[in-house]
Amino acid sequence: MATRLFFSSGDLIADRRFEFARDLQLKGDLVAAADLLTQAIELAPQFTSAWFTLGKIRDELGQRDEAIVAFRQACSADPEDRHGASLCLMRLGAVPLSAMPQAYVQSLFDQYAPRFEAALLGGLGYRGPALLFKAVLAVRLAASKPAFFKRAIDLGCGTGLAAAAFAKQVDHFIGIDLSPGMIEQARATGLYAGLEVDDMVQGLRGKPDAVAELILAADAVIYVADLAPVVGEAARVLVAGGVLAFTVETHGGEGVRLGEGLRYAHSAAYVRASVEAAGLKLAHCEEASVRNEANVPVRSLVVVATKG
Ligand SMILES: C[S@@+](CC[C@H](N)C(=O)[O-])C[C@H]1O[C@@H](n2cnc3c(N)ncnc32)[C@H](O)[C@@H]1O
Repeated sequence: MATRLFFSSGDLIADRRFEFARDLQLKGDLVAAADLLTQAIELAPQFTSAWFTLGKIRDELGQRDEAIVAFRQACSADPEDRHGASLCLMRLGAVPLSAMPQAYVQSLFDQYAPRFEAALLGGLGYRGPALLFKAVLAVRLAASKPAFFKRAIDLGCGTGLAAAAFAKQVDHFIGIDLSPGMIEQARATGLYAGLEVDDMVQGLRGKPDAVAELILAADAVIYVADLAPVVGEAARVLVAGGVLAFTVETHGGEGVRLGEGLRYAHSAAYVRASVEAAGLKLAHCEEASVRNEANVPVRSLVVVATKG
């Protein structure tokens, strides 16, 4: 999911140098691109997009220390960090792993929203909602319970692909997503009784205890480092017998990592511990792949947890 965010410096000449630098970068002339970006930054020292792009180029050139300097400058020029420079610092080991900047997620998905489904379903072979659907049905069948849910909450609902997969199984869907652009697309589906622009943990915190039979998060907690708050809140909001189903990207090691694509990957042991710490029972945890990246299946887990 390539992001080409650009925020004008307010200086026409600096902006032009940035555009030339981007052309050079795309043509593979990284050294010349870095030179032009440095010139743009001399004209506009708070030029976030130039600092960020310079950081990427320095990193590609193997100049780790210089890349760190540039990413730090991008963070200080834009404290909201819409480019996600702090994530690049995490990847470089310059700062400890921490939460994703909300403004980064919003900017990323707002610009992505109109072409999200075509890119995911076409280019990346996205199958997260279908895998969740199959897993939830299997868990309900094994428990001899009907796979019908009166009230469901779709965390990180995006354009509504998970609600579409579960549409015949759910009476009343609420969608929560950080990105207004994605929520707009979800609204157009007519699948949701309610939609909220909010962080998923905050959105759950605003709900009373025991109000949902099903909570879904399809390909969404890959943007959440610490699963404890979201799984804990989901456990509170579920009714007894309720179901939490989500996908994560995973890896063979321990704990949580930030991958090259700037998404978190959670180990199976970490997922199990998060579910159990919230008082839920892990009913299903299956290795699968929710989508491809560069034509290679991304290693993922499909997780279903039940309450009581
Ligand atoms: C890859 S999309 C998946 C969308 C949808 N669930 C699907 O299966 O197509 C991830 C979505 O999660 C949302 N998101 C990421 N972090 C979030 C958070 N902390 N709270 C709410 N939404 C979040 C993004 O805005 C984006 O729409």
